[in-house]
Amino acid sequence: MVKEEMKRILVTGATGNIGREVIHYLCELDQASEIIAAVRNVETAKKKFPSVQNLSYRPFDFENEELFDTAFENVDILFLLRPPPISQVEAVFRPLLLSAKENGIDKVVFLSVQGAEKSTVIPHNKIERLIKSLGFRYIFVRPSYFMQNLTTTLLPEILKNQTITLPSAQAKFNWIDVKNIGEATAVLIKSFEEHHNNAYIITGEENKHFQEVADLMSKVTGVDITFKSKNPLSFYFRKRKEGITHGFALVMTMLHFLPRIQGEPEITDDFYRITGKKPTSLAEFLERVKDEIKPSSK
Ligand SMILES: NC(=O)c1ccc[n+]([C@@H]2O[C@H](COP(=O)([O-])OP(=O)(O)OC[C@H]3O[C@@H](n4cnc5c(N)ncnc54)[C@H](OP(=O)(O)O)[C@@H]3O)[C@@H](O)[C@H]2O)c1
Repeated sequence: MVKEEMKRILVTGATGNIGREVIHYLCELDQASEIIAAVRNVETAKKKFPSVQNLSYRPFDFENEELFDTAFENVDILFLLRPPPISQVEAVFRPLLLSAKENGIDKVVFLSVQGAEKSTVIPHNKIERLIKSLGFRYIFVRPSYFMQNLTTTLLPEILKNQTITLPSAQAKFNWIDVKNIGEATAVLIKSFEEHHNNAYIITGEENKHFQEVADLMSKVTGVDITFKSKNPLSFYFRKRKEGITHGFALVMTMLHFLPRIQGEPEITDDFYRITGKKPTSLAEFLERVKDEIKPSSK
């Protein structure tokens, strides 16, 4: 029997939506390797993974260069994620990647976004180009729109007003389950040599606009959930009034407005090719989370 090679894999964004799933699937799939969660707070992070055996922790902060060297020591593969509040590529990601390189890391798996290659202004595009220009061997994971946006960013309004308000009109989004992204990423990391220097577009099989999704949510929860479209400017100011920062309000506006002019997203079979499985459907996802998203009917 061939003994599996032991690798050290460092996972950034470990406590977030994507990172948690990457860790979950990777620890299951690659028990020969050491999986390391790179986290701001080791004690709180430990509480999030009570039953994961082959996981260790290293202190890490994207905004604290002093921690880079110890975090990157003896690491074979870096799973890199851009946390939503961090967009300064030159100030944050260049020093980070240079330190990774100096510490001998030459493999990076970067969580990007579908369409990143076409939009030179978004940070993911700049980070992809930086990774290539620094000579890393890489895999770019480019997922579509997370189903979990319904259970995170959009949830407070759903629970409070049974409403989703966005500047997206009839624009169609491709819906992907974060669990599917985590599973595909874990497979790609484990079989890095087979897949490197490629980009994978992880999509679900459905392109649906928010009215269709609100209708599905109403059906599953038994509570009427309404979709309201706003123009981008009034949406942006509404978010600001709710206390959301300029940067995040702008990202929310662009993320939901741009698909109106970009046309329908591409649907790929990359998830199937990587895992041999079908991606989660919206109906399956909503059934799974229906207790979480059900507003109390008045
Ligand atoms: N939402 C979508 O539909 C969508 C679609 C495609 C791509 N994406 C991309 O997916 C990424 C977001 O992934 P996500 O949803 O998993 O994010 P998330 O749930 O917000 O998690 C962010 C993670 O980053 C960590 N973090 C934040 N600031 C940090 C810092 N200064 N130093 C160290 N760690 C820090 C957080 O750790 P703490 O626990 O310490 O806070 C957390 O683990 C973004 O790049 C986004 O553009 C999103």
